[in-house]
Amino acid sequence: MFDRTALEALTRRPLPFLRSAWPWRCAAYLVASLLPGAAVLAVAVAMTDVPSPFGLVLALVVLALSIPLVAWFERVRLRLVDAVPLPRTPHRRLREAGVAVMTVFALWWIDLLMAGFTILGPPLLILAPFVQPDIVPEVGVASPVAGVLLLPVAAYTVTAWGGARGAMVRALLAPQGSELGEVLRSRARLVDAFEMERRRIERDLHDGAQQRLVSLSMTLGLAGLDLPVGSEAGRLVALAHDEAKRALAELRELIRGVHSQVLTDRGLGAAVHDVAGRSPVPVDVDVDLPGRLPAPVEVTAYYVVSEALTNLAKHSGAARAAVTGRVTRGTLVVEVRDDGAGGADPAKGTGLTGLADRLSVVGGRLSLSSPVGGPTLVRMEIPCAS
Ligand SMILES: Nc1ncnc2c1ncn2[C@@H]1O[C@H](COP(=O)(O)OP(=O)(O)OP(=O)(O)O)[C@@H](O)[C@H]1O
Ligand SMILES: [Mg+2]
Repeated sequence: MFDRTALEALTRRPLPFLRSAWPWRCAAYLVASLLPGAAVLAVAVAMTDVPSPFGLVLALVVLALSIPLVAWFERVRLRLVDAVPLPRTPHRRLREAGVAVMTVFALWWIDLLMAGFTILGPPLLILAPFVQPDIVPEVGVASPVAGVLLLPVAAYTVTAWGGARGAMVRALLAPQGSELGEVLRSRARLVDAFEMERRRIERDLHDGAQQRLVSLSMTLGLAGLDLPVGSEAGRLVALAHDEAKRALAELRELIRGVHSQVLTDRGLGAAVHDVAGRSPVPVDVDVDLPGRLPAPVEVTAYYVVSEALTNLAKHSGAARAAVTGRVTRGTLVVEVRDDGAGGADPAKGTGLTGLADRLSVVGGRLSLSSPVGGPTLVRMEIPCAS
């Protein structure tokens, strides 16, 4: 098992933990506080030689100048106790300065006190009888034994403090929320990029392949008119004409799946009516919305309804379905239900999990209730401004 942080290493079984480098790394991490500590003491000593009002100003200037250096040092030495790379977060410089100020004023001496007690304690106990030969004999025996027994305890203490201090520095430099925000933003960017790509594909298909098929279909129609009725050539051209019309219909369907023009032009309500109207299963639509919603909300809801209607036509065997949509207290709630066989399972395909992913990007939620025997209810909630 590979541990990424000192705190993770603490959860290992004792022997692998004690044999690992983590206690040593944590000791080095804490002892490294000698550097900022020595610098602070040096400044303090130097200031005692300077006349007082000047001394204070000079001390503050020196400390302010040392902040970026201490901040860099904190970031670098964090790797000793935490091997996870720090993500880029907003206000990074400010956060680092905060950690540096804490180090200069408090953390360095706490580190050194902890390190002093835990690292020096056991060796001092072990060496006590040799350093002080006139010690009471009982103590002379007990002291090294206690020292040896305390060695593993010291390894745990030093790792616990080193790990906790590392976790605190990480929390200050890269709070979990900021990282999540960044991840969400990058996912949102990805979805936006996907949307643009979908529109481009739709335009390309619409202006390219669809136009060609339209003119092919018209040419075949005209050719059919010129051929004698009942001739073999006439029959074949009529067949080709039908085939071209079917290909055109399929292409139109495909384009609508890639990107709904109705949705862009007339909003979610119209788009849901449109997609429900093309479903092979009769669908009752009851969508009542207060005007247009934000574009990402509309697009996401549209794909949820499309996928749910495709699914129920493909898998449920339902005789009837219903779609409802309302905005309640700033949240768009859309439900798609069918009276089919039920037993929907997101693990069996990519459609439902894909929808859940889409929804998480816009801060929404997908819930599914589909007991075997039915009915099936797909419910989607997205917070929206209007
Ligand atoms: N309305 C439904 N009624 C009954 N079963 C359903 C329903 N919707 C989905 N299922 C079941 O749940 C499974 C998962 O659905 P999902 O949409 O994730 O995948 P899929 O439709 O099989 O494939 P795709 O990745 O093309 O969407 C389906 O394979 C189907 O067995
Ligand atoms: Mg599906």
